Amino acid sequence: MAMEHWDTKLVTIEDEAGFAAAARALYEGQVVGMPTETVYGLGCNAKDPKAVAKVFEAKGRPSDNPLIVHVASKDTIPTLVEEITPVAKVLIDAFMPGPITVIMKKAPVIPDCVSAGLDTVGIRFPIHPVAQKLIEASGVPVAAPSANLSGSPSPTRAEHVMKDMMGRIPYVVEGGECQVGLESTVVDATGNWPQILRPGAITIEQMEEALKNAGIEKPETIRALEQKAGEAPRAPGMKYRHYAPSCEVKILGSGDFDNYEEYYKEAVEREILDEKTPVGLFVGTRIAHEVKTLFADQLDHILFYEYGDDFDVEQAAHHLFDGLRELDEKKATILFAPAFPEEGLGIAYMNRLKKAASENRPTAEPAPSKRRVLFVCSGNTCRSPLAEAILRALWKEGEPHTMLGRPDVKAELEVTSAGVTASEDREYTRFSVEIAEYEYDQDISNEWSTPVTEYRLDDQDLILCVTSDHSHYLRTKYPRSCEKVFSFQEILEDNFIEGISGEVLDPYGGDYITYQKTASQIEAILRAVLPEILKKWEFVSANNDG
Ligand code: TXA
Ligand code: MG
Repeated sequence: MAMEHWDTKLVTIEDEAGFAAAARALYEGQVVGMPTETVYGLGCNAKDPKAVAKVFEAKGRPSDNPLIVHVASKDTIPTLVEEITPVAKVLIDAFMPGPITVIMKKAPVIPDCVSAGLDTVGIRFPIHPVAQKLIEASGVPVAAPSANLSGSPSPTRAEHVMKDMMGRIPYVVEGGECQVGLESTVVDATGNWPQILRPGAITIEQMEEALKNAGIEKPETIRALEQKAGEAPRAPGMKYRHYAPSCEVKILGSGDFDNYEEYYKEAVEREILDEKTPVGLFVGTRIAHEVKTLFADQLDHILFYEYGDDFDVEQAAHHLFDGLRELDEKKATILFAPAFPEEGLGIAYMNRLKKAASENRPTAEPAPSKRRVLFVCSGNTCRSPLAEAILRALWKEGEPHTMLGRPDVKAELEVTSAGVTASEDREYTRFSVEIAEYEYDQDISNEWSTPVTEYRLDDQDLILCVTSDHSHYLRTKYPRSCEKVFSFQEILEDNFIEGISGEVLDPYGGDYITYQKTASQIEAILRAVLPEILKKWEFVSANNDG
C-alpha cells in the first residue's frame, strides 16, 4: 500500500483552528509532529494500532522498537500500566512532568505494536506546555518516537521535522527550540531499583537522591555489583540507529578542556592539509574566536556552529543535534565536536555524540586496505623511532601486500611514532638514525619527535608501546583509544609468543652497541607479532616465508 501524501501544515498554538485540527487528527488516527522539551516526537493515538503503523511508515523504519506513550496528567498513568512499583512512584512524583520515561508493566489497553511485543511500556509526561495542551486536546495517550527520519539526528526544531516529514504527515505543531535537546532518560522501574536504559537530562544521581528521600534504600545486591564493577564504563552498549549525520564525526579531547585550542587547531590544520574541506566545527564561542583568528585566511574551508559557552554542557547538549544537522547540510566533509566530562548531563551528551561518531564510521572510513600503526615511547627520540624504522623494513621485506582473497587490492601500512613526554620537533637520537640507516636501510633523519595527543590516537588502528608502563598510562589518560593500545609484552602474551622479552628499556645515553641491542630486541618482537597482526587485518604478504 502506498503511503498517503499530505500537504504538511505547520500550526502554532495561537492558531486555534489549526491547533484543534492537529489535535483532532491525533484522535482520529493520524500522525502529528509534536514538540516536547527533549526532542520533537511523531505522535499518534497509542490505543490505535493502525495509527501506530503509520508512525513507523512515516519514520521509514521497521516496527521493531517500542514506542514511548505520552500523557498530559499523572492521573492517566494508572489506566495504562498494570503496576506502579514503589520505585516508579517515586520517579513519577519527583520527575514528572519532565525529561524522563519510566518503564512499567503495561496494561492490556496498550497494543503490542506500541510495546514491540514486550510486556512493559515506557510512560512519559512532557513538561513542554504545547505538548501538554496537544495531548490534552486530543483526549488520547500519544505514542511517539522522535520525529526524525530513520538515520538522521533527532529533531530539536519544528523546521527539522518539516524537513524530514514533509508530505508524510498532515500536521507539525510548532513549539520552538527544544530546551533540553537530547531525548529523555529511559529508566526501567519494574524492579526494586531504577535501571537506566538510555541516559538523559535526569541522572541516576538525581534518582538515587529522590529514592533516598522517599526512604527507599539501594538493594544490597546492587551495592555489591557496583563495588565489583568499580569504575566500569557507565553507558552500556545500547543499540541505537539514529543521531548520525552523513559526514564523518570526530570527538575532540577527553573532557578536561585542558588543550582544546590545540585539539581544534591540530584538527583543522590537518584536515585542510588533507583537503578534507570544508571542516565543520561544533564549538564554544571562545575557541571559535581563536580558530577564526588563527585561520583568518582559511575561513572559506571552515564551517562553524557555535553552541555557546565553551564549558557549558547544557548549551552543548541543547544544540548538539541542531549542530550536527546544520553542519551536515552545509556539506562539511568532517565534523569535530568536543568531549565533555562523563558526569551529569555530560553522560547523555557523550552517549549521543559517540553514537554519531561511530555510526557513520564504516562508510566514512577509507577502505580497510590501509592501516595505521603508531609506536609510543617516552621522548620519541630513541625506541619508538627505531621501532618505526624496523617495522617499515619488515613490511618492505614482505611486499607486495594484498587483501585476503582479493589479490587485486593492495594493502597499505602507515607507520609513525610519538612520545608521552615528547616535546615537539626534537631530532631523533643519532644512534637510532644510524642504525635505521645502516641495518635497516630506512631514512628517518628527516623526522622529528611529536607528543601523543588524543586526536593522533583516534586516527590509529594499532598503538604499540615499548613498555607496559606506557600502555597503562595511555589507556588511563586516553580511555577512548584504550582498545587499540598494547604494549609489546601484552601483544606477545596475547598471541602466546614466549621466549622474547617485550619490555624494551631506554637506551638513551648508551653507545652504538646499546642501541643495536635495543634494535635487535624490537626486531625480534616485531618479527614475532607481525604475522599475527597482518592476519587480523586480513593482509596477505606475497613474500611470506614464515
Ligand atoms: O525524549 C524522548 O524520549 C522522545 C520524545 C519524543 O518523547 N522520544 C524518543 O522516542 O526518543 P524513541 O522512540 O526515539 O526512543 C525511545 C527509546 C528507544 O530506545 C526504546 O528502545 C526505548 O525508549 N523504550 C521504549 N519503550 C521501552 C520499553 N518498554 N522497554 C525498553 N525500552 C523501551
Ligand atoms: Mg529516536
